[in-house]
Amino acid sequence: MPLRFQDGELLVLDQRLLPDEEQWVRCRTSEDVAECIRSMAVRGAPAIGLAAAYGVALAAHGGEDVNAAAELLRGTRPTAVNLAWAVDQAAEAADALALAERLHAEQRDADRRMAELGADRFAEGDRALTHCNTGPLATGGLGTAGGVLRAAWERDRLAQVWVDETRPRLQGARLTAWELSKAGIPFKVIADSVAGGLMARGLVDRIVVGADRIAANGDVANKVGTYPLAVLAERHGVPFYVAAPLSTIDPDTPSGEEIPIEERAPEEVTPDGHGFNPAFDVTPAELVTAVITEAGILEPPYEKSIARLRG
Ligand code: MRU
Repeated sequence: MPLRFQDGELLVLDQRLLPDEEQWVRCRTSEDVAECIRSMAVRGAPAIGLAAAYGVALAAHGGEDVNAAAELLRGTRPTAVNLAWAVDQAAEAADALALAERLHAEQRDADRRMAELGADRFAEGDRALTHCNTGPLATGGLGTAGGVLRAAWERDRLAQVWVDETRPRLQGARLTAWELSKAGIPFKVIADSVAGGLMARGLVDRIVVGADRIAANGDVANKVGTYPLAVLAERHGVPFYVAAPLSTIDPDTPSGEEIPIEERAPEEVTPDGHGFNPAFDVTPAELVTAVITEAGILEPPYEKSIARLRG
């Protein structure tokens, strides 16, 4: 849903304007795509990887220097490893457009599989809490955590979703709320600081979030505010699930300490210039109940379950 390639152009649904306006940005060059990723017109780890792969295809088709375009796209946002993963493949492909389309189709398949596997962990009447946006807008398929919620709802295993508003860009309040209302799933948007109180009152049965990069030891980088949720979940005995495709797992990053954390403009937090704006935080593997991937559900110890994935 967030990306469409047609008539030699990449159309990007401008997520900065949602839910008020549905406008599409037309990208003809790799720089057009890079700007969409930097400014978060397109966002979400798998979706920016796909956009960047299409960006390489535009570069190849438009006679740009493909290696320079790949470098430009790779540098747009540092935390989500899906970006470099997709760009590297596109830059090496004989037909970058065919590669981007294949990655897009594979993401849809992976999302379906994660949704089904994740929903198995839900029980009738569950009230789930989620953070940021991890639905179709973030992946181009059903979503990661968002897809799990949708499958749980379709299988009568979900009563309601608590949606963290997700300061400062409000991906929860604007985007997840928009997706859930379209899907007819009951939800309530909460200020991020409400989550702990809800857990203390026994109103949250499980938490499910996405990821931008999972290190080889299972540490998870995701939207800032995820780590405090995991700490609260442990305190209150709430299962804490991460749903992410294999492309989000980075065996070359040993632990969360080595994951680069994007720092965005302070003005996104407060217009007076006194803000500090790390866009992601790292949740230590020991706080994660399970990682839902398309290849199966990974359990601790993650060092071993992740290493097993590599065969
Ligand atoms: O800064 P964003 O909106 O791109 O951050 C997105 C997230 O943190 C998501 O949780 C993550 O990419 C997983 S989405 C499928």
